[in-house]
Amino acid sequence: MKPSVRRPVLLGAAAVAAAATWWGTDAAPYPYAQRWLLDLPLPFLTNRRLDALLAARPGERVLELGPGTGLQALHVAGLLGAGGRLDIVDVQQSMLDHVMRRAAGRNIGPIVPTRADARELPFGDGSFDAAYLVTVLGEIPDPQAAVREIGRVLKPGGRLVVGEFLDRHFVPLVTLLGYANEAGLRPSAWLGPALAYFARFHTVFGEVS
Ligand SMILES: C[S@@+](CC[C@H](N)C(=O)[O-])C[C@H]1O[C@@H](n2cnc3c(N)ncnc32)[C@H](O)[C@@H]1O
Repeated sequence: MKPSVRRPVLLGAAAVAAAATWWGTDAAPYPYAQRWLLDLPLPFLTNRRLDALLAARPGERVLELGPGTGLQALHVAGLLGAGGRLDIVDVQQSMLDHVMRRAAGRNIGPIVPTRADARELPFGDGSFDAAYLVTVLGEIPDPQAAVREIGRVLKPGGRLVVGEFLDRHFVPLVTLLGYANEAGLRPSAWLGPALAYFARFHTVFGEVS
């Protein structure tokens, strides 16, 4: 096999192996001891696809729930620039510390860590332009409460991107649509396939009287 062909085949095999290991070992919250698996991008849940829906712009304030080791956070902070800010929230201090160690010395926008539960966010109403979470929602004991809480901290017209992958905590799109509807968030885009998808929602602007 030519080296140019072998590389994608090996990468594909590594991704499948990572996905299989993930399936077998996944616990909630995701154990810090298994953090190395989080550095392997899952099939379809790439930062390029996240960008396509999140559309993070320089100067924005963005919230990430459950950053893990920072696979998405370090990338998104780079898009926000010095005038922007990425807040990362996780129940595990070890994950937040890991991201901050990796961020040190990089030429990316500021990252502000906060240890908290996604169901009870320590931020005021309408604080963020956008929020995202990737393979996190199903780990949260009450995902509906988390989606409602994220909706609360988004500005009017703010956007939420949810990434989900077929693991033990998978949240199917139809279930997510129900959570979003209850939280007053409107679906606006989706990137499949159904078992490894990104979905985007918007908060609605207030009625003009
Ligand atoms: C499977 S990891 C995903 C990490 C990263 N988003 C990625 O795709 O590599 C799930 C992350 O969500 C965090 N988490 C789990 N439950 C949470 C909760 N209730 N509130 C905030 N973070 C939570 C875990 O600590 C962990 O960092």
